[in-house]
Amino acid sequence: MQSERQAQVILDRLNTAILTCDPDLNVTAMNPAGEQMFGVSAKQIRQRSLATLVPMDPATLSTPALKALSSNQQVTAHDVTITLAGGRSIKVDYTVTPLHESGQGHLLIELLQVDGFLDIARDQLRMDQFAANRDVLRGLAHEVKNPLGGLRGAAQLLERQLSDRDVKQYTRIIIHEADRLRHLVDRMMGVTRPIKEIAVNIHEVLEHVRKLILVEFQQGITVERDYDPSLPALRGDKDQLIQAVLNMVRNAVDALGESGLIKFRTRIQRSVYVGQQWHRCVIRVDIEDNGPGIPEHLHERVFYPMVSARAEGSGLGLPIAQDIVNHHHGSIQLHSEPGCTRFTILLPFNTQGSANER
Ligand SMILES: Nc1ncnc2c1ncn2[C@@H]1O[C@H](COP(=O)(O)OP(=O)(O)OP(=O)(O)O)[C@@H](O)[C@H]1O
Ligand SMILES: [Mg+2]
Repeated sequence: MQSERQAQVILDRLNTAILTCDPDLNVTAMNPAGEQMFGVSAKQIRQRSLATLVPMDPATLSTPALKALSSNQQVTAHDVTITLAGGRSIKVDYTVTPLHESGQGHLLIELLQVDGFLDIARDQLRMDQFAANRDVLRGLAHEVKNPLGGLRGAAQLLERQLSDRDVKQYTRIIIHEADRLRHLVDRMMGVTRPIKEIAVNIHEVLEHVRKLILVEFQQGITVERDYDPSLPALRGDKDQLIQAVLNMVRNAVDALGESGLIKFRTRIQRSVYVGQQWHRCVIRVDIEDNGPGIPEHLHERVFYPMVSARAEGSGLGLPIAQDIVNHHHGSIQLHSEPGCTRFTILLPFNTQGSANER
């Protein structure tokens, strides 16, 4: 029993997608990494044809399977691009092995995504660089904040001594600009207070942001919702999560201009690495817009502070969102092309449990 359970744990934790097929190439079993790769549950795919996993180009899986069947030998290939049901392409190494033990014609298929590992490494590198940048920024912000208070106080005192309205306008400018700088510096400091952990329903966060946006921009912007109502609550700071989502949605609105479509989508994502921590399940939130997309030269840099393509932008919205999501042990991924920009937030909802499982 113990070794059976251990075998199950190993199967669940593998990064390699594992499938078994009968001689008609119908799927008989699939592990969580397979569910994650193909975006279907093992239950849904059982007894359905292997080819349905890659509907755009069914031969990518069925040809090597047929080859292994006819030769009764293992078939292996590297760096093969397969297109998944949603149209996304990934690169995999695969091996198809005839399973003599399970009866004539049964197959074991192993697929390892090779480009995914690059993403994990890049994610981690970004988080490390971000942490280092944030420390520098915080130090700088702190240094600016103190003299700024003095400057504003002195301008206020000076204003009281002045009777000439024309001269007073200069002290007004000093006070106004000091306030603006103070606001900027506060944003540069990022998350300074500890997160107030409560049970948060992510849909309440999204609905709050949706209402704010629709009040602010009444015309032209449509917000479409595609929620998975079965999502569990997560432990986190609701106000901060609202701030993070709002920063991303404001960017979408800025990019869309007069009119456009923003989509909020929530799902459970199974067997996933967030940073370097593996989670059985996390909450996935997609914020997608059909605007012009992020300029390609900014793709790698938009999460860094002060990176902005907008004349009036301070380049702090995304770093702040990233900081908040990191405080919730989550991560943000970006996909952007003209007509589709998607920020995907992954949020663990049982961090304690996952940490114990490591
Ligand atoms: N959905 C999007 N579509 C197109 N470009 C985007 C989108 N989201 C972000 N960007 C680009 O990323 C840049 C950085 O965004 P970020 O929110 O960090 O800063 P900002 O919006 O310029 O300024 P701030 O949010 O501090 O007012 C933006 O200037 C914009 O060029
Ligand atoms: Mg912004």
